[in-house]
Amino acid sequence: MATTDQGGELGFEQDIKPLFREKDRKAMLSYFDLFDHADVAENADAIMGSLAMGHMPCDGTWSEERLETLQRWIDMGKPA
Ligand code: HEM
Repeated sequence: MATTDQGGELGFEQDIKPLFREKDRKAMLSYFDLFDHADVAENADAIMGSLAMGHMPCDGTWSEERLETLQRWIDMGKPA
């Protein structure tokens, strides 16, 4: 049994917000609030771009699995 259900529904509060650390949120607050659904939804393409290119966060790149989760959420229409 797969624990990560590739086809499952994703939600911001449950699946996306926990990907961001408190220090990520603090560092980026002057641009957007990574703990806020509306802010992340609005800036999702730029956020995904910086993560996928490995520019952000500065202290380590995201795993494929995390990138896929964020991309899948974007493709789903960024549900709350
Ligand atoms: C549009 C997307 C983003 C842009 C344009 C952006 C831009 C920046 C800039 C200009 C800084 C300041 C760099 C410096 O002080 O030298 C910064 C810092 C930082 N960002 Fe982002 N960022 C983006 C997305 C993200 C995301 C998605 C995360 C986390 C998942 C993140 C985590 C951080 C962290 C942790 C720092 C502080 C790094 C440090 O001082 O060591 N950023 N970002």
